[in-house]
Amino acid sequence: MPLVNTKEMFEKAYKGGYAIGAFNVNNMEIVQGITEAAGALNSPVILQVSSGARKYANAKYLIHMVKAAVENFPELPIALHLDHGDSFELCKACIDDGFTSVMIDYSGHPYEENVEVTRKVCEYAHDVKARGRYITVEAELGTLAGVEDDVKVEFGKSSYTDPEQVQDFVNRTGVDSLAIAIGTSHGAYKFKPEKCTRNKDGVLVPPPLRLDILEEVSRRLPGFPIVLHGSSSVPQEYVEIINANGGKMPDAIGIPENELREAAKRSVCKINIDSDLRLGMTAAIRKHFAEHPDHFDPRQYLKDGRDNVRAVVTHKIKEVLGSENKA
Ligand code: G3H
Ligand code: 13P
Ligand code: ZN
Repeated sequence: MPLVNTKEMFEKAYKGGYAIGAFNVNNMEIVQGITEAAGALNSPVILQVSSGARKYANAKYLIHMVKAAVENFPELPIALHLDHGDSFELCKACIDDGFTSVMIDYSGHPYEENVEVTRKVCEYAHDVKARGRYITVEAELGTLAGVEDDVKVEFGKSSYTDPEQVQDFVNRTGVDSLAIAIGTSHGAYKFKPEKCTRNKDGVLVPPPLRLDILEEVSRRLPGFPIVLHGSSSVPQEYVEIINANGGKMPDAIGIPENELREAAKRSVCKINIDSDLRLGMTAAIRKHFAEHPDHFDPRQYLKDGRDNVRAVVTHKIKEVLGSENKA
């Protein structure tokens, strides 16, 4: 099948109580590792491209690599999504290039501007007469700063998404899915240690996700797909391999996988994961160099990196997303 948008994926995921993994792609090995895992497990998947990825790899290379993956896995529903589009122009460029889904992220702007720009992107993306296809649009309400900034947690006074805004936002924009802020955050250092507790083994335990906000949002938007950004779990085994092999990542910490699984059982239909792929790839390559100081052929160490990307995605599909055999 050709690249798909996220509409049907999300409808099925919502009803089935699972989520689709949205994995960031930056090079060929990452595209291959993700799609090999999804293909082997018969799982739908979203490959997403950030502005940084477009700059690094050149947008055309990424699009063609994703299309190669689609040819390799013709039975698999694969969406090509723009991650954190910061302008109408960027969303338009990606749509014109063949992306099947885009995110317009105006969450850092005043509410009315967020409504206006999101509405404009939706108008363009949903114009089936003009484009010959329906491109799905994701937007965001709330910011992911989270607990480390000491935000107050009352609805409406914090970076957390204000559930009172969500109906107005969705009705006025026509957006297809909504990213919300319930305590996740981007990167490999999601919480300051002093904001965490420690379990009996001394391991940091981050503050729990605000599933109450998620539930309130879903009560106001029944059947509507919700997205979680910043959902890497920062596996400590990879952090340890990195640190044991010349790396330096003290206090790297992520979102516990069981909490993400709970979110996926509810209205969360898309879970964004990038940092865990970076960690998996880096751990494998650092280990490879430590074990084979004589190697200099990139295919030798990039193969290990790709294998670990596949291992990360396999684990996510089975243990976190629940999307195995849902293609
Ligand atoms: O949400 C951000 C993603 O992890 C993409 O990161 O902008 O460094 O490509 P990037
Ligand atoms: P992580 O940094 O937690 O992997 O989040 C990725 C993300 O949200 C991409 O949009
Ligand atoms: Zn994100």
